[in-house]
Amino acid sequence: MNNDIERTLYSVEDIKEAAHRLGQQLTEDYQDKRPILISVLKGAILWTVDVMREMDIMAEVDFIDVSSYHGGVASAGEIQLVHDLSADVAGRNVIIMEDIIDTGRTLQFLIDLLKQRQAKDIKVCTLLDKPEGRVVAAKADYVGFKLPKEFVVGYGLDYKEFYRNLPYVGVLKPSVYEGDRPE
Ligand code: PRP
Ligand code: MN
Ligand code: MG
Repeated sequence: MNNDIERTLYSVEDIKEAAHRLGQQLTEDYQDKRPILISVLKGAILWTVDVMREMDIMAEVDFIDVSSYHGGVASAGEIQLVHDLSADVAGRNVIIMEDIIDTGRTLQFLIDLLKQRQAKDIKVCTLLDKPEGRVVAAKADYVGFKLPKEFVVGYGLDYKEFYRNLPYVGVLKPSVYEGDRPE
């Protein structure tokens, strides 16, 4: 698996520092608020657990599974709600946990949904923000790194559902997605 990576973009250390920094920031900002973290499956799994354990406040966590990429390198544009939250977000301070904001479509879909369900306040905490990818206006409030125009995998981010378990974020060798490899 590591052989498929051309280079590391954000190392284990870089990510650890970002989780620590944002966890501290959230601790300050949500001191008496008891927020609910909404982890967006599947990409945000590692980021969610790493940030939440840096937060010294009373916080809940819940999961929602939405999908847009259908396994490829480009967004399909259509968001599917695969598995819903179990919590009621009405009147709650919500923090959406994402691994990456690219076109912004997933985030917009989630914000619309949470607003419709009467969340009190919605903020977004993402490991990676790729502003050049934006198709719809969607903003993150807490950002680990601004990502240049690259297709990256690892630390939750997949290519055809694989590479999520890499502990760092890296760029795939082009040969991997040019079909040089049998699936
Ligand atoms: C990826 C990523 C974000 C979203 C960002 O999820 O984890 O949720 O796409 O892209 P966007 O800003 O263009 O909408 P994906 O749909 O691939 O599902 P996954 O998290 O299960 O990999
Ligand atoms: Mn995702
Ligand atoms: Mg994906």
